[in-house]
This record gives sequence, C-alpha cells and structure tokens, in this order.
Amino acid sequence: MSDRGSQPETEALNLMPWPRAVDPGIGALQLESAGFTAVFDQEPAEDAREAVVRAVAGLGRAVAGRTSLPDADPVPVRFRLPAAPAGLPGLEEDESYWLAVDDAGIYLEAASVWGAMHGITTLTQLVDDRGRIPHVAIDDGPRYRWRGLLLDPARHFLPADDIRRTLDGMACCKLNVLHLHLTDDQGFRLPVAAFPKLASAEAYTHDELSGIVDHAAARGIRVVPEVDMPGHVTSWLTAYPELGVRQIEPTERFGVHGACLDPTSESVFEVIGAVLDTLVNIFPDPCLHVGGDEVSPGWWSEDPNVRELMAREGLADVRAVQGYFNRRVGRMVAERGRRVVAWDEVMDAGPEPDWIIQAWRGVTQRDRAAASGHPVVFSAPYYLDLHYPADVHYGFDPGAPQQQLLAREDALMDDPRFAHVAGGIRWTRQWRQDAVILETRDEALILGGEACLWSELVNAEVLDLRLWSRLPAVAERLWSAAGTTDPDDMYRRLDAFVDRVLPGADIRLAADTRDRWRALGIDPVWDPLLEMLEPVKWYGRLLGAEALAARLAGTEMPQARPYDLTSPLNRLIDHLPVESRRARALTGLCARADAGDAGTRAELETDIRRWQALPDLAGEAPPDLVPLIGRLVQLGELILERLSGRPVGSDGELDELQVPEGEFMLALPPGLRTWLTSA
Ligand code: ACM
Repeated sequence: MSDRGSQPETEALNLMPWPRAVDPGIGALQLESAGFTAVFDQEPAEDAREAVVRAVAGLGRAVAGRTSLPDADPVPVRFRLPAAPAGLPGLEEDESYWLAVDDAGIYLEAASVWGAMHGITTLTQLVDDRGRIPHVAIDDGPRYRWRGLLLDPARHFLPADDIRRTLDGMACCKLNVLHLHLTDDQGFRLPVAAFPKLASAEAYTHDELSGIVDHAAARGIRVVPEVDMPGHVTSWLTAYPELGVRQIEPTERFGVHGACLDPTSESVFEVIGAVLDTLVNIFPDPCLHVGGDEVSPGWWSEDPNVRELMAREGLADVRAVQGYFNRRVGRMVAERGRRVVAWDEVMDAGPEPDWIIQAWRGVTQRDRAAASGHPVVFSAPYYLDLHYPADVHYGFDPGAPQQQLLAREDALMDDPRFAHVAGGIRWTRQWRQDAVILETRDEALILGGEACLWSELVNAEVLDLRLWSRLPAVAERLWSAAGTTDPDDMYRRLDAFVDRVLPGADIRLAADTRDRWRALGIDPVWDPLLEMLEPVKWYGRLLGAEALAARLAGTEMPQARPYDLTSPLNRLIDHLPVESRRARALTGLCARADAGDAGTRAELETDIRRWQALPDLAGEAPPDLVPLIGRLVQLGELILERLSGRPVGSDGELDELQVPEGEFMLALPPGLRTWLTSA
C-alpha cells in the first residue's frame, strides 16, 4: 500500500487551515480505491456513527472526483472516539483530533465527533490527484471556538440551497458558526405565525430553516439566528406601523435608516416575544442574536412618549433608552433559555454580564467589551464586503494587543491598494473614541471571530465569487496558531483550497468566472485585462463618489447612492473577483524570470504582448474597460524595463496606475510593486 519517496516537506502540504502540529513522515500511502469505510475501536453512539459514516462517504466522493481510482475494496479509516452521543454542536466542544497516516493505514482519534469530522476534512485535503496520502502525523485543534460567517439574506434573499452549499464549504475550512442575519430594513425573512405581515414576499419556510439547521449540525456547524432591533426595522414597521413612533414607507435604499421600534409600546414587546418564540422553536443553538447596531436616535429623542418613559425610568439620554430596550429584550431571551449575542453598540448602556458582544466598529470595541468581562466575537477586521484582498483580513490576529491591531488599521491608509479610500478608512477612526486599552486581557474572553458578508451588493448569483476567494483565509486565522502568518504560504494553500476542495462543495470559482464573462458577451480577448482588474475597495462601490464625499464631510444621508435593492447585479463589475489571482501569480513569474528562468521570461513576454495588442481593439472594448487598457499596457512596459535591469523610478508612477476608473482598478499586489521598484 505504500511507496517510499522523499521526505514530504510540510510546507508543500495543501492544508487549509494549517494544523497546530504537522509531523511529516517518509513515503506515502498509495490508495487503490476511492472507497473508504469507517472502523471503530468501540461502538460509538448511533448519531456519532451516522455523522462519521456520512463524512467518510464524503471523503470517498472527494477522492473519486479528484483521482481515477476505482470504487474497489474500501480503505479502512480506523477511529478512536468517545462513546457519547454527538448531540448538537455547542459552544464548548472539544474539536481536537489526531490523525496518522503510515504504512499500516489511516488512524483518527478525536475527543468528539466534531473533532473526527475535522480530521476527515484534513484527510480529504491530504489526498493528492494520484491517490497518494503522505505519511504524516497531525495533532490539531482550533485556536478559537467561535469561527463564524455572517450571511445577510435580509438585503438580497439567499435561497436555502445556496446556504447549504455555503455550509458545505464552511465545513471544508473548519468554520463552525453560521450567523444568519434574518431581518433588516429591506427584508424580514422569518415567517411569524401570529404576525403574518412581518415576513417579506421572499422568506424562508420554517422547514427550510430547520433543514439548514440540520444540514449545519451534521457538519459540526451551529446556526445563530439574528433578528436585528430596535434599529434596522423598516420592514417591521411597514408591516405593522403601530410598532414605531412614526409612519414609514418600505425602503429599497441602503445605509442607516431612521426607523426604530417604539420602546414605550407593549405591542412591540408582544411582537418580539412571538418572534423569539418562533426562533427558539426552529434554532436549537444556545445563542440568539438580537442586533442592536446603528440605532438612529432621532425618532426617540423627538417623541413625547419616549420622553415620558425617560422621565419615568430615569433614563438620561437615548443611549439609556436603548439600554432599557435591550435589557427587556435580554430578559425575554433569557426566559426562553437562550443567551444574548449583540453588536457592540449595546456596550453603550449596561448590557447584562453574560451577553456575548460582537465587535464590529474597529478593533478597539473588542477590548471595550472584554474590559467589562464580556465574551467577544471579533468581526471588525473580517468584513468581506469591503472587497479587501485576503492578506488584509489574514493579518489581523483576534488575540493581538490592541496597539498592534490599531497599527494594522492605520497601515491600511498608507497601503497603495487603498489610497483611493484612505479618507473613508480614516473616517472609521471615530469608533476609537470609547477605546479601552487593556494591559492584560483574559484571553478566554475572545471566543473567536466572524467574517461578515453584508449583502447590499451580493445576491445568490455572485455569492460564491464574493465569499470564497477570502473566507478561507479568515477561517485559518481563527483556527490556526498565532504564529501561522506567512501570507505567501497562505495564498499558496488558499489557491489549492479553491481549486481542489471547493468544487467538492459545488463551489467553482475560477472556471465560473470566465463563464460569467462569456455570459455577459465579453470576448475572451479581454480576459488578460479583466484578470488584472479588481473592484474598488472599502465602500467605494456601495457609496459611490457623492455619498462617499458626504460621509467624509459628516453628512452621510440621504445622499444619492449608485445602488439600491432594485439594482440588478448583472454587470461586469459584479462578476469581477475581489482579488486578482493573476496579478499575484505574476509576482512569482516576474521574480522567476528575473532570476534567469528563460521559459518563465518567454511566458511573461507572451502575456505582455497580448496586453500590447489591446489598444488596437479598443473600439470594440466593453466601455467600462477602455480607460484601463492604457494602464495595463504601461504596467507591461514597466515589467519589461525592470526585467532589463531598470527598476521603476518612483512609487508615484505605480500609484498613478492604481487610480480607479469608475468602479474598476488595476491590481498591483505588494510583492509585484516591491519587485518593480527594487534594483
Ligand atoms: C453592522 O455592520 N452594522 C453590524
């Protein structure tokens, strides 16, 4: 079953997230079959057996899809597991596992069925395209126990099938929490029997949601539902106007809205009770997210009933009113046996001690919550809707000292990739005003983090493209050791994950992208240009020039924004990956050509000649692309000059190349920039 080859180098293994400890052996196990069978050293509980057998069948499907091995005598995978039932994944699981592959076979020991599934995931990634598994011993477990993804089907609805595929992909990178943001100004996706008008025309059925919970649980993933209140509630108030202190029309626009629930109305708490009852019937998770972000104070501060409430309850200001509201909701959640999760704004007014705080407004909010003993889910550095490259998210360690994280935030303003939105990034410094700097922090309070994909510009059709080129990097940041930080190695493994692992979850990024361009009628001759472009960063797309300028001037709304809920997401910019993989690959090619590799140099020159041919075709170019053709040609010239020994004279020339044209910009990763300017 084995052959003895050279010692595998651990850094050549395509594992994502990278395990805690990898001890490479000599040689590899050559599989003769794509079939596997689970063998247990003691009979596990029925549900644990089912979960493991299902995961092992998935391993077989993945290997069959990747190799030409027959489905012959199944290969045993020997398990040592506790005998206890698996139950549902919870907040306190031991997800560690120990995996060994050697001449005698495959062994997997785990402290829980969830650990066993992570081990199978790792094993799946270890099998190469010839059906070989390197001899190896892996001792692995997560650094953080909350490794989440927020999906926002409230803005653009995401069908249950797409959520299930996303869960499959999440399991592949060992994420363990799906946070479903079910309600917002633009949509309410949860039918509530007693208040049937709440649910939008497009909403999940209870069966669909239960199906999502089951699908997630079978993969060791918790589902935490969020119902956002008392702000972000236009959808509630257009269904039941009596829940607010003013009348309001349905909304199709994005941005912070004025609508908030009436904290003086008992009907409001009756509706909330019905919503919470509905949630706890569907979602078994111990945690329930009640939102609490971005409440506009205007409605409350001007309402006589609210002022009367303030006088009666001794509430000094509208922040205190939100505190009053939050605490009532918190009691209702506790009465239903669940634990509150809420956005960091609830820190403004006396959250209950056991509330879990999700820190989103910059990195200081993490320590503001932790300083008062709150467990924290850290999301601030992991907003995928900012269209940042993976290395940016990857660089923010959830447990790093605040000063280090602040320095990273500040560095974004000096990063040439974000020069066009540096003002916007600077604007977020206002969130530091309540900063609490901790000398020492109880590390156990950092539960982990969550990547957030807000869906103003994401629908089902572009979901994969917006999610998967960066999410695995966040997954690794939350799973792997603090010392696993090399971005080049991360990108190498990320590419392998996207190409080899995700197709098994029906997520096909690279091939799909070209198909999308063809469907838009774009001639393949433009692919070399498109491959080198990215969408503008931060909220450059969502705000557009006018609203961005207004935000920087402190007068954010209601400025015209280029997008609302009615905007079809069907243009080239919607189908352009967030991060140019080609530009990254080019960095490596340039370095190799520079080191004297003649074949690589010829390959590069061929590419650049293709770029140089584009100006002649400009008359037939998609109009959005015309201004960018010259930039690409100029980049090609700079590469050729640098190859002939003349580095680019100034960063300014490269800065010019990266100035956006509309919503597009030329990708110039840091490595390529460094190479171009180095002697
Ligand atoms: C948020 O991004 N408003 C939580």
